Amino acid sequence: MKKRSGFLFCLFISVIAFGQDNKSGLAIIPEPVNIVKNTGVFFLPKNITIEAGSQPELKQAVGNLKNHLSVPTGMHVTVTSSAPAATVRLVLNKTENAEIGKEGYQLSVSPKQIVIKANQPAGIFYGVQTLVQLFPKEIESDTIAKNVKWEAPCVQITDYPRFGWRGLMFDVSRHFFTKNDVKKYIDDMVRYKFNLLHMHLTDDEGWRIEIKGLPKLTEVGAWNVKKVGYFGTFSPPAPDEPKNYGGFYTQDDIKELVQYAKERFVNILPEIDVPGHSLAAVVSYPELSCTQGADKYHVRSGEEIMDWSHGAPPIALVDNTLCPANEKVYDFLDKVVTQLAQLFPFEYMHLGGDECPKNFWEKSDAIKALMQKEGLKNMEEVQSYFEKRLEKIVTSKGKKFIGWDEILEGGLAPSAAVMSWRGMKGGAEAAKMKHNVVMSPTTFAYLDYMNGDPAIEPRIYATLRLSKAYQFEPVPDSVDAKYIIGGQANLWTEQVYNMRHAEYMTYPRALAISESVWSPKAKKNWDNFSQKVEKHFGRLDEAEIKYAPSMYDPIVNVSSAADKQIKIELSTEVKGLDIYYTFDNSFPDRFYPKYTEALTPPKDAVMLRVITYKGDKPVGRMMTLQIKDLQQRADKKSE
Ligand code: ACM
Repeated sequence: MKKRSGFLFCLFISVIAFGQDNKSGLAIIPEPVNIVKNTGVFFLPKNITIEAGSQPELKQAVGNLKNHLSVPTGMHVTVTSSAPAATVRLVLNKTENAEIGKEGYQLSVSPKQIVIKANQPAGIFYGVQTLVQLFPKEIESDTIAKNVKWEAPCVQITDYPRFGWRGLMFDVSRHFFTKNDVKKYIDDMVRYKFNLLHMHLTDDEGWRIEIKGLPKLTEVGAWNVKKVGYFGTFSPPAPDEPKNYGGFYTQDDIKELVQYAKERFVNILPEIDVPGHSLAAVVSYPELSCTQGADKYHVRSGEEIMDWSHGAPPIALVDNTLCPANEKVYDFLDKVVTQLAQLFPFEYMHLGGDECPKNFWEKSDAIKALMQKEGLKNMEEVQSYFEKRLEKIVTSKGKKFIGWDEILEGGLAPSAAVMSWRGMKGGAEAAKMKHNVVMSPTTFAYLDYMNGDPAIEPRIYATLRLSKAYQFEPVPDSVDAKYIIGGQANLWTEQVYNMRHAEYMTYPRALAISESVWSPKAKKNWDNFSQKVEKHFGRLDEAEIKYAPSMYDPIVNVSSAADKQIKIELSTEVKGLDIYYTFDNSFPDRFYPKYTEALTPPKDAVMLRVITYKGDKPVGRMMTLQIKDLQQRADKKSE
């Protein structure tokens, strides 16, 4: 008997193109520019051939695809440099296709063959990421998956990114993450076509990169006392507590990471955060401070060092700044920048500039003398003087200077690019001055914020829900789009102690950001996206990447009502969920009252418990809200 060929089952009966309201049933994130779905499917044969030419830059794309097609499926995969009839062809265009640019690709899945074409290896790599998302979720598993129909729908996809800068920032200073952790972070981000890893390498809690000739940065500056609890409220380290928590990357580690990232088409942007956030450097070399007594300081272990009660800039309780009036500081920074420029091939270098307290500078005679000499009128101009000198150092090493939007205050250095974090305003202002801008506003792109309600999330001072992150639009109205070179989301790690939690905070919000920086604006659609995210939860489960399921947990809105009562309104971020609740301390399920209208707690009730269901399946987590906490929320709101 002739063996059944799956190919015959795939008939090209009709061709459907999908626009903004994508009902293709596909769940590709980020949404491609154009999908044409044909009827029928491609069945993965038992013996698979991948044709991939001989370019070494295709190694990751081929290896990645081979693993996916063989490990969970048990199929046999052969890679060959030329085989026009291969199961999967990865083809670099001989004649450039201008539409898809440097990172785009065309993917064709037909009954007989899969073909990915691109102008550059990066495009092939991204085409592979999309292709993997067309197969069942088990393709993400690293063990054999049984009873899976290994098929992909027949499609024609043309795809390319909206922005060249698609970033995630990983703060490896507040908590140190090992070289292997960083590799894992890169492996995960490229699934969603991010191409830039911003490493926040220095802060008050640790200096994380070896600088030759400045050994104390890593002998002293990389270590503090391990504390857990709520960061910012920890007890100050006692003299007998060992400072053995932390770590740093040697220059060989950095070279390895840069190479690892490059093979996956990721640039690494290094950040040295100065002149504020510099306590680890000051403790290592106290002569860099304007303040007498800095030699008694220690690397921060999460105790309070800043008073934010008056707003920004904060009042520092210890002087965590480098001294702009001290020539030694510029010699130090020249050494650091020179070595960074040699280690990181990326064209930009980030020199921080955020949240620099000025209260110690105000008291410093050296700063007063500098102001007089340079005609500087205020502390913002002092910082601007520092930033302009730093910009010169950076450009003298052949790099472009980028900093947080505070570098606008007191006058922006001539060639500086701005990373806008305090909303979009600073970025818009810089773009109007014809400076390049990367948007990473707290309002949409801060991954350290809680994923949902404080009753269930590890507590941070702010919340960023997935639906809000999805609204991230990097180009503000009235700004020339050409100055907005991209966008990124930032994972600060004051409260992130390990990789699993780093993943929880990153996903799925990074998926929302990936659509904001890759997909055409007109293709974005929350309902479609949230359905795709549900499918990606399954894929992330298979890949054992942790994520926050918070989009299933109710949104709680409390307000004051008559007679000192409170009114509790519950809603959900995604459609099609039911909320069940109880005030009697027991655990609600779908046989409990269903939420239909605002609730008022019974007189002596102590807690409200809620859970969401999709049909007969619980999808949200059991949330317990203390009535006294809800009362406080209402009081705060009506203040
Ligand atoms: C920042 O979040 N301080 C840049």
